Amino acid sequence: MRQKALVLIAALTMLVAAFAMSGSRDHVFAEGPSVPIQKTEAGMSSTNVKYNPPLPKDAPISIRDAVMLGYDIMNHTRTYAGKYVGNTLNCSNCHFKEGSTEGGKNGGLSLVGVTTKYPEYRSIADGVVDIVSRTNSCFERSMDGKPLPPNSREMVGLITYFQWISKGLPIYEKIPWLGLKHIKSNHKPNQVEGKKIFSSACASCHGADGLGTKIAPPLWGKESFNDGAGMAGLANLVAFAHDNMPYLVSNLTGNEALDVAAFVTSQPRPHFTAK
Ligand code: HEC
Ligand code: HEC
Repeated sequence: MRQKALVLIAALTMLVAAFAMSGSRDHVFAEGPSVPIQKTEAGMSSTNVKYNPPLPKDAPISIRDAVMLGYDIMNHTRTYAGKYVGNTLNCSNCHFKEGSTEGGKNGGLSLVGVTTKYPEYRSIADGVVDIVSRTNSCFERSMDGKPLPPNSREMVGLITYFQWISKGLPIYEKIPWLGLKHIKSNHKPNQVEGKKIFSSACASCHGADGLGTKIAPPLWGKESFNDGAGMAGLANLVAFAHDNMPYLVSNLTGNEALDVAAFVTSQPRPHFTAK
C-alpha cells in the first residue's frame, strides 16, 4: 500500500514538474476567457461575493513590502520589473487602477478576487494553470516580455498583492466583475468603417498613428501587446473597447466596437515568441 502511494506521489510530482517546465513556454494560452471544468451552480454568485478590496497600505507588516512592490509593478511595470517586459505598457493600462476596480463599465479588467479562481483547468493549455503561470502569460504576451521566475521578488510581490486584494472572497465562487464581457452580434466587422471610428474616437489620445502619446498607451506597433495577447483577439478587444473606450466615457455601440477592433487588430504588432 505504502509503496503504491509513494509511486503515485512520485508520478504526480513528475507530471507537475513536466508541466511547469513546458507550461508557459510551449503551451499556447492567450489571455482569453478561461474554461473552467465545472460551472458554479447556474452561474449565480453567492451572497458571500462582495466587492470590498482592502487598500495595499493596510496590508499587515509581514507582507506589506511585497504587496507594495506588486502594486508598484502594476503601475510602473518597466521601472519595477524591467528585466521581464518588452514594451512600454503598464499592467494598469488594461487592469485599471492596479486591478482594484469593480470591472464593469469604465473599470477595465479587475483582478479583485483573481487568486480565488486558480488553480484552474484551461483547455487551451490542456492542463492546470496556476496564478503564477497565468500572470506570466500576461508578461509574455500583453507585455511582450518573458516569464518571471516563480521565486523572483517581482513575482512574489505581484502574487502577494493579488492575494491581498482578494482578501475575504470565497474560493471558486463566480465573481461577476472578473473577465471581459463578450458581446453577441451578427454584424460583420468592417475595417474601413473601423479606421474612420479610430480617427474620430481614438486617435486624439492614442495618436493618429496608434503608437501612443503622453496621455494614452500604444494600440499597435513595437511598444504594444504582441499577437499572442488576449487583447489581440478580436472578441476580447471588442469587449474591452465597448466597456472602456473612449476612456472613462465608453460610448461605442456594439457595431462601432466591432469595426474599430477589427481595424486595430489588423495593424502590425510584435509576434509572440517564447523568450
Ligand atoms: C480620452 C482619451 C482616450 C480615448 C479617446 C481612447 N482611449 Fe484607449 N486608453 C486611454 C488611456 C488613458 C488608456 C490607459 C488607461 C490606464 O492606464 O488606466 C487606454 C487604454 C486602451 C487600451 C488598452 C491598453 C493598450 O494600449 O492596448 C486599448 C486596447 C484602448 N485603450 C483602445 C481604445 C480604442 C479602440 C479607442 C477608440 C474607440 C480608445 N481607446 C479611445 C485613453 C483613451
Ligand atoms: C494589453 C492589455 C493587458 C495588459 C497590459 C496586461 N493584461 Fe493581464 N489580462 C489581459 C486580458 C485581456 C486578460 C484576460 C481577461 C479575461 O479572462 O476575460 C488578462 C488576464 C490577466 C490575469 C487573469 C485574470 C482572470 O480573471 O483570470 C492576470 C492575473 C493578469 N492578467 C495579470 C497581468 C499583469 C500582472 C500584467 C502586467 C505585468 C498584465 N496582466 C498586463 C490584458 C492585459
